[in-house]
Amino acid sequence: MSDHQPCLPARPVRESQSEMAEIVLPNDANPLNALLGGRLMHWIDLAGALAAHRHSRQYVVTASIDHLDFLFPVRVGDLVILRSSVNRAFHTSMEVGVKVWVENYLVNTSHHVSSAYLTFVAIDKSGTRISVPAVVPETPEENRRYEDAARRREIRRAEYNRRRQQG
Ligand SMILES: CC(C)(COP(=O)(O)OP(=O)(O)OC[C@H]1O[C@@H](n2cnc3c(N)ncnc32)[C@H](O)[C@@H]1OP(=O)(O)O)[C@@H](O)C(=O)NCCC(=O)NCCS
Repeated sequence: MSDHQPCLPARPVRESQSEMAEIVLPNDANPLNALLGGRLMHWIDLAGALAAHRHSRQYVVTASIDHLDFLFPVRVGDLVILRSSVNRAFHTSMEVGVKVWVENYLVNTSHHVSSAYLTFVAIDKSGTRISVPAVVPETPEENRRYEDAARRREIRRAEYNRRRQQG
């Protein structure tokens, strides 16, 4: 399927690359001082929206979040770093990748704790969907993500239609 945004100048991935940092505080954690999964999901959503907004320069809404794994517990006092960028844009939607790292400078550790793909849709003030610029991948990694994003979109659509048919 072609991505068509005929009148909008395409933008390189680097223009949407974003980074967000959060320190885990007691209010973000369960009674065992481990970060709540829901809080991390909230930060992932925000980090993803940052990249989608930078790419589209429009209001965006989250259409979906793909599967999420939490690979390590994150503790109160840890520094959570969320890096995001737009992998590919389609018509009104964009796939954004968010990768989450946890750093602890007291014990000098850094772990990759989660990754997620989110789809954002650009809308105007009245909520009408609007076209977004195409993405220009420039590095081998960006090209790989760009190609993979089209495959993931097909899987996502098939799953969405299957769920809709099941009611
Ligand atoms: C996301 C939303 C704008 C899609 O609107 P819609 O009228 O259903 O639009 P369509 O089915 O025609 O799809 C529009 C685009 O969104 C994409 N899309 C729609 N649902 C999707 C989903 N569940 N996952 C991924 N992409 C999705 C389509 O692939 C299409 O992309 P394209 O324009 O790049 O080809 C609409 O469902 C909505 O407003 N949802 C609520 C969003 C929200 O409030 N999010 C915050 C969480 S509460």
